[in-house]
Amino acid sequence: MSATIEFTIDGKEIKGQPGQTILEAAQQAGVYIPRLCYMKGLTPWGSCRVCTVLINGRPQAACTQPIAPGMVVESSTDKVNALRRNIIDMLFVEGNHFCMFCEKSGSCELQALAYRLGIAAPKYPFMFPKRELDMSHPDVFIDHNRCIQCARCVRASRDVDGKHVFDFADRGAHRRIAVNAEAFLKDTDLAVTDKAAEACPVGAIVKKRTGYAVPFGQRLYDKKPIGSEIEAGVKS
Ligand code: FES
Repeated sequence: MSATIEFTIDGKEIKGQPGQTILEAAQQAGVYIPRLCYMKGLTPWGSCRVCTVLINGRPQAACTQPIAPGMVVESSTDKVNALRRNIIDMLFVEGNHFCMFCEKSGSCELQALAYRLGIAAPKYPFMFPKRELDMSHPDVFIDHNRCIQCARCVRASRDVDGKHVFDFADRGAHRRIAVNAEAFLKDTDLAVTDKAAEACPVGAIVKKRTGYAVPFGQRLYDKKPIGSEIEAGVKS
């Protein structure tokens, strides 16, 4: 019996290995599937749904769905990209994302996905929630205005750093990232070298004194769209 699993994404034949998710098999084959809460090395979370694909016509998260022989996956189609645009649109208006003032601009995955998917301006009204900043830690700050609740910091701290510094608190529209201390980040054992300090895809958890180290124009997504390195076959 062959150990290879064959299926298609947008008509392209993909060969994957048992146990791979659609996102992993696609990436290995040079097909980029947009994602936000997925991060290599962390347990897949399946919460942002930006990686949604249609499998035999039904929506599934590509970062958690294992591959199966003969599955027909639609990813880069008008219909699927419209779903993704809606998610990105909502993430922008639910928080306070002012890219022109953000240290992460040019290296922000949310911003880069908006550009890749052709979003020039949000289509929903801004909610302008009131959110806090925590600047108490000597090396890292949290700007809750920019948090998209992807849980990458939660998983990185728990699974890689073994510290459990971050988790969610409250519910519904009030859900937010919290730290495992009475009040502030400075009271945790977060170190600037922790995986959790670099796992944030946006500008919510940022290392101090590094924000503008790389000039605009030379940042991660300034020259090529997010996902280009995967499509070019560059292995990370
Ligand atoms: S990347 Fe798959 S649900 Fe977020």
